Amino acid sequence: MKVILLGPPGAGKGTQAARIADELGVTRAASGDLFRENIRNETELGLQVKSYLEDGVLVPDELTIRLMMSWISAPEQADGFVLDGFPRTLPQAQALDGELAAGGGLDRVLYVNVANDELVRRLAGRFICQSCQTPYHASASPPKEAGKCDACGGALYQRNDDKPDVVKRRLDVYFAETEPLVDHYRAAGVLREVDGEGAVGDVGNLLARALRS
Ligand code: AP5
Repeated sequence: MKVILLGPPGAGKGTQAARIADELGVTRAASGDLFRENIRNETELGLQVKSYLEDGVLVPDELTIRLMMSWISAPEQADGFVLDGFPRTLPQAQALDGELAAGGGLDRVLYVNVANDELVRRLAGRFICQSCQTPYHASASPPKEAGKCDACGGALYQRNDDKPDVVKRRLDVYFAETEPLVDHYRAAGVLREVDGEGAVGDVGNLLARALRS
């Protein structure tokens, strides 16, 4: 199955992506994680995209499409995948549609819908594992041991773009550039909308049901 998780910053896409990929037995990628890995490793791409992530605006389509198409076309993804954070603009969605057309296109686009004040609350309390990128929340889903990842023992950190002024910009960018994709995928008949405001497990159950529907 080829699945996309769509939704605003902080909706819980990263939290749910691993679980969905495990259930389906497919690989997963988050465009934001791939960019942050390149920034950490000081690659040429990392140097090109650093300021965009710091400012909370989108990386130009050309760079993003090149990165994600190279991931999608690798043999490991032949049996399907879960994508989190890509596509985010109409040109990105059109590039993906073109790439997948010969293989039947996307199976599902899961749109996780969460109200703005809850998104801000979630991002303000988020901690992420430096090694495996698992997200935690100070009150909603804290790690068993403070500052340490339950999954791999890695150190937890707070993202620079989770500062309030950058979060506001990321939300504005989402509504201007990414939300129009909801209509794009609704028209294609693959969109399923899920209420992302419940507890992590409840949202996971709704997503599992939406995948089967
Ligand atoms: P990216 O890393 O993709 O960030 P995002 O889309 O803003 O999404 P987040 O990772 O912030 O949120 P999430 O939905 O994954 O939530 P999470 O599960 O962590 O993008 C960052 C930047 O990279 C962009 O600004 C841009 O510059 C660039 N970029 C990336 N992709 C791009 C693209 N395609 N084109 C151009 N530029 C691109 O959950 C959030 C918090 O809530 C956590 O603390 C979690 O524990 C908690 N939580 C989750 N679910 C629940 C729940 N049900 N109840 C309570 N708490 C919950």
